[in-house]
Amino acid sequence: MKALIVYDSYFGNTEQVAREMEKSMKPFAEVNVLHVKDAGPNNLDGMDVLILGSPTRRFSPTPPIKEFLQKIPPRGLKGIKTAAFDTRIDVNTIKSGFLRFLVRTGGYAAKPLSRRLKRKGGKNGLPPAGFLVAGTEGPLMEGEAERAAAWVAGLNV
Ligand SMILES: Cc1cc2nc3c(=O)[nH]c(=O)nc-3n(C[C@H](O)[C@H](O)[C@H](O)COP(=O)(O)O)c2cc1C
Repeated sequence: MKALIVYDSYFGNTEQVAREMEKSMKPFAEVNVLHVKDAGPNNLDGMDVLILGSPTRRFSPTPPIKEFLQKIPPRGLKGIKTAAFDTRIDVNTIKSGFLRFLVRTGGYAAKPLSRRLKRKGGKNGLPPAGFLVAGTEGPLMEGEAERAAAWVAGLNV
């Protein structure tokens, strides 16, 4: 199985999650991990799996991740298993009650990404997943690296 993980990351947390996934997939897949700025539709050639990872920013994926998806032609993911994950703030680490409310109700990046991947013809690989960071800059909350490794191992079926 050949897999591509494309991620964006400002403070390193989403990259760390992508690297955990790479490690977890190594026993059953040939994995390539690319920062979104280095990735384009050409990197999809010959891939069986595409995983997209984005920090949640203003309830959405980051602009570079959205642009990466836009560059993929219609049906460009036909025959490829796809999955999306995000990192997001652990609401328990937000002091302001109003901000906690906004974050809880605003939504996250993984679900819309997962939908867009399917719209491009991707086969559902895994349900969208979110991994928690402390505050805006992290680090990853305890146990999240392990949860990421377990999530992606679900592709080995
Ligand atoms: C401008 C900005 C907007 C953010 N918006 C959200 C949000 O809407 N929901 C959320 O859960 N986290 C939000 N966060 C927290 C980010 O999800 C967090 O910084 C990110 O997961 C860290 O990943 P990275 O280290 O890979 O950049 C925001 C952070 C910043 C700086």
